Amino acid sequence: MLKTIPIEELCSGMYVDSIAAQQGNLKITSRGRVSNEQQINHLKRQGIKALVIDLSKQLPNDEPASEPPLSPVEENIESQPEVSFEDEISVAVALHNKGKTLQKRLLESVSKGFPIDLAIPEEFTQNLVSSIDRNPNALLCMTKIREKDSYLLEHSLNVAILLANFASHVELTEEEVQELALSGFLHDIGKIKIPDAILHKPGRLDEQEMNVMRDHVYYGTKVLQEMGLPKSMIRTIGEHHERLDGYGYPEGARGDEISLFGRMIAIVDTYDAITADRCYKPGMPSQKALQILLQDSPDKYDAELVKKFIKCIGIFPVGSLVKLNNEKIAMVIRQHPVHATKPVVKVFYSVRGSHYVKPSELDLQKSPTVKIEKAVTASEYKLDFNKYFSEAIAI
Ligand SMILES: [Fe+2]
Ligand SMILES: [Fe+2]
Repeated sequence: MLKTIPIEELCSGMYVDSIAAQQGNLKITSRGRVSNEQQINHLKRQGIKALVIDLSKQLPNDEPASEPPLSPVEENIESQPEVSFEDEISVAVALHNKGKTLQKRLLESVSKGFPIDLAIPEEFTQNLVSSIDRNPNALLCMTKIREKDSYLLEHSLNVAILLANFASHVELTEEEVQELALSGFLHDIGKIKIPDAILHKPGRLDEQEMNVMRDHVYYGTKVLQEMGLPKSMIRTIGEHHERLDGYGYPEGARGDEISLFGRMIAIVDTYDAITADRCYKPGMPSQKALQILLQDSPDKYDAELVKKFIKCIGIFPVGSLVKLNNEKIAMVIRQHPVHATKPVVKVFYSVRGSHYVKPSELDLQKSPTVKIEKAVTASEYKLDFNKYFSEAIAI
């Protein structure tokens, strides 16, 4: 017997037959039983308003499922972005610019000892999460835009974007996604208290300098505590340099002593730091950063979470550059839901002729002869990535 209910009435154990009303384009490719709260939250975030449920297949609340619960979220529902990349990119560009300005203002306030109104970054990260919910690819692309000498501003913004995307991928609740986005945005705020000679040193820090640098975690958590940031976020921020083997800082916490959010932020923070261009060295390709995370898990990073992070951003992440076997350079703009090595890319440069070509979209799943040869960086080919991006992508 079929019945249409609003999403607010959906409970674990109910058997979903189809979607009755929605804002986005989520598709149910086969029917299934809802087995936990996270699936319900995911459906809400995807804009589902009402569903058709099959009452004859509904389990009473206290009866365990005799069959393995079907997972409409992970297995049977194919998620499609709510809005197109083209429509979301202009919002993402504006958000990215606003994020950098806001980060700069926050750092200035901390440096001068002025109070911070946390409602402002909170509202900003809410808008960030909404953009990711509509179409994550737009903001994910923006994480690859790096301005010279803007590492501190861009890094915290990128960690917020990547962490929010990671959090929604592992099916955390709406509130938890928001919490992680804000924690990411504020995680390195204590760095403004570190002397410039150490913070911007064009090279490796010696042991003494490293000890000074480590204090940014203490300064950051202290200031944020005074501003009234909730305890759970202080903990996440305080743990972003902790490592499972106990060789992190500031506490040298080990294994289970580090929270789930602390483990997640550690992965994202390391990934962004490795891929960022610094004044003394160009960033590594995303693939190399993912390899490092894999090599260092389970010793330093949670192996399961690293795997989930790689699954979520893909081995060729959106916004990263790849060299194709036809001697062209392209930017990844969309993951293939199943075939990780066959994303949709935008071709824009010819290696053979050393010149830019008219940007054209190419679906590698549909072109059997063209394949990705390797991940590359803009600096390897002396490409002005930011110029290309503003002319060909952020139109
Ligand atoms: Fe840090
Ligand atoms: Fe960081």
